[in-house]
Amino acid sequence: MDINSALQALRDPLGLPFFPWVFQLLMVLTFALHILFVNLVIGGIALAVYGHFKGGDFNKHLSKALAQVSTINLSLAIVLAVAPLLFVQVIYDPFWYVSNSLSAWWTMVFLLVVALGFLANYVFYLKRKKNPQGYGIFGILGLIFVLCAGVIISVLSVQALVPGEWLKWYTADGNDLVTSGLGLYRFELGRFSHFMVPAFINIGIFMMLYAWYFRPRSDFDRAYLDWVGLTGARIAKIAAMIQVVVGFWWLLTVPADLHFMRNPFLWIGVSLGLLLLVGLMKGQHEPERYAIPLATLSFVAILGMGTAREALRMTYLRVFEYSIYDYPVNVDWGSTALFLGTFVMGLVVIAYPIMIAFKLGRGTLNES
Ligand code: HEM
Repeated sequence: MDINSALQALRDPLGLPFFPWVFQLLMVLTFALHILFVNLVIGGIALAVYGHFKGGDFNKHLSKALAQVSTINLSLAIVLAVAPLLFVQVIYDPFWYVSNSLSAWWTMVFLLVVALGFLANYVFYLKRKKNPQGYGIFGILGLIFVLCAGVIISVLSVQALVPGEWLKWYTADGNDLVTSGLGLYRFELGRFSHFMVPAFINIGIFMMLYAWYFRPRSDFDRAYLDWVGLTGARIAKIAAMIQVVVGFWWLLTVPADLHFMRNPFLWIGVSLGLLLLVGLMKGQHEPERYAIPLATLSFVAILGMGTAREALRMTYLRVFEYSIYDYPVNVDWGSTALFLGTFVMGLVVIAYPIMIAFKLGRGTLNES
């Protein structure tokens, strides 16, 4: 059996319960949300650790705030990861399961490092309340664990793109059958960096939002808020410049015979990234005024990047004559209606408490 037929045979014989493009759309959307919070966690912990060791009133204050918010952002990153995980398993099942079983041990280690990262961050945040000088090491550990999780999931994603290599990996280049699941076979530093450098763009924009959000509160030092906003804008701008370089570096490592350079989704993503850079340059001196437009633009750019990433996956898999659009479909209206119904209800239920919490934190609850 050749690899193209094997991929068809590995599909779920029951087919999809709804149209593939719907799953694909939701996968790109939820991946964008997932990676946004991953970015906020990585940027947040990194700056919290930096501020902790650098010292000074402003740095310490910001470090405490970022350590606290990183625990929440990590929960959100994990919760928001479940949706793209389910969608990728539905429409790309042959690829995802093979990649996960090739590196089965690492799939388990992934869960462990996510849990350890979570614990370390909590210790970093909570214990410092009693001893502000100590526990910085837990911040460093938290960052290392979360980065390890990122490396593992990136390897699993990349391995899923190259079915032509699987036989070689499963048979140790034709010498033996490898069933240990201990191998990690392909890591692309350019691709990984392309998802990590935006951590500093997004945490910088988060700091601009922080300054804007707390401005109405009389118990916040004005000079501190000025400093947070301006520092955030500077960090975001520098990171966006680095991201342009990293993006092209990754692009150059994509096999030329895929002709991905001609893909319009790539150039839409690139244009949105460049637009964000221009916006960040403009917003340097008035971070609070530009905080919301830039946060919106950044999310749109992440969506553009997520779409380009999906277009790249389709380009890789086209070589094997594989397309999710010809996956057999057996529409199951009942489960689809239940899914959409609970999704919309969930949004309605959480909207009100979020609005109240937002106003409470900003000190503007009694204004409306
Ligand atoms: C907490 C640390 C985490 C980090 C730093 C992280 C980072 C990343 C990165 C960098 C990617 C892009 C990989 C690539 O395309 O090369 C990614 C994708 C993804 N992550 Fe996470 N992630 C984390 C947690 C999780 C968790 C807990 C789950 C599952 C519950 C998860 C599920 C996914 C899925 C499903 C994808 C997309 C895979 C695909 O489309 O091929 N992630 N993550």
